[in-house]
Amino acid sequence: MSTAVILPGSKNPATRPDTISPADFAVIADMVRARSGIVLGVDKAYLVESRLEQIVRNHRYSGLAELTARLRSNPNDPLAYEIVDAMTTNETLFFRDAKPFDHLRRHLPVLHATIPASQPLRIWSAAASSGQECYSIAITALEAGLGTRTVQILGTDISAEQVARAQQGLYSEFEVQRGLSTPNLIKYFRKADGGWRVNDPVRRLVEFRRWNLMEDLRPLGMFELVFCRNVLIYFDIPTKRRVLAAIWERMAPGGLLYLGGAETTFGVTDKFVPCVGAHQVYSAVPA
Ligand SMILES: C[S@@+](CC[C@H](N)C(=O)[O-])C[C@H]1O[C@@H](n2cnc3c(N)ncnc32)[C@H](O)[C@@H]1O
Repeated sequence: MSTAVILPGSKNPATRPDTISPADFAVIADMVRARSGIVLGVDKAYLVESRLEQIVRNHRYSGLAELTARLRSNPNDPLAYEIVDAMTTNETLFFRDAKPFDHLRRHLPVLHATIPASQPLRIWSAAASSGQECYSIAITALEAGLGTRTVQILGTDISAEQVARAQQGLYSEFEVQRGLSTPNLIKYFRKADGGWRVNDPVRRLVEFRRWNLMEDLRPLGMFELVFCRNVLIYFDIPTKRRVLAAIWERMAPGGLLYLGGAETTFGVTDKFVPCVGAHQVYSAVPA
């Protein structure tokens, strides 16, 4: 039995993991791609080896060969969910990249002024990870002076583990130091359970659900704003195109899409055009 240690914030065991054969790597990579859209090139074998090591230990398999044999014999085994979850990269932080949130701060009062007061503003974070993006949106909305207007923020992610973390709204000292200003920390969090927990006024604006972007998105409803940041980078072009088309269908007239710093709709879809003067913000082209 290995005595590997999981480093804080890491999915990687500190010891040298088992190596995976090319045939087993292909089984894992094909399954992950079919279920999540995440492309694992052959250069990612080391990542598969290190990320799946914990699953091997939890199930007391003899190694990656046995894990893959289980998957081959029963592709619909719940093990497949565990593997996909382990292969997601969940790096995130509060107010990531700052500029999209500066734009949001300016844009929310515009939406508030143009959309009937009886109608909620709906905002979707489509790859919410452990929730920092949704809580950053919620804090921005609370600071925007929208009066009694209802704001509904939906955070979805394929990873059950991350959705559970996001729902808890509990962050370590290290995590709150990544992107949160001291005034926001004091105003919107309280010390609890060895970390910092989001306050109820922030928590109340946000709902989290496990949702795979490969699935039908229609049950999620319509949104004025969609944050789909730092997830398209893991997909191939046809998958990006399909996901962006499905998101476009979920956008209210005049809806805006926020992408990550390394992502673009250029060369992928003509359903979105860049907003002039706004970094990483795209307008949904009317139908
Ligand atoms: C790098 S994080 C981005 C978090 C946040 N949006 C940000 O920019 O900080 C990428 C997230 O995408 C999620 N993800 C990957 N494939 C997905 C899919 N098919 N459907 C939904 N979420 C997915 C992962 O679980 C992970 O939490």
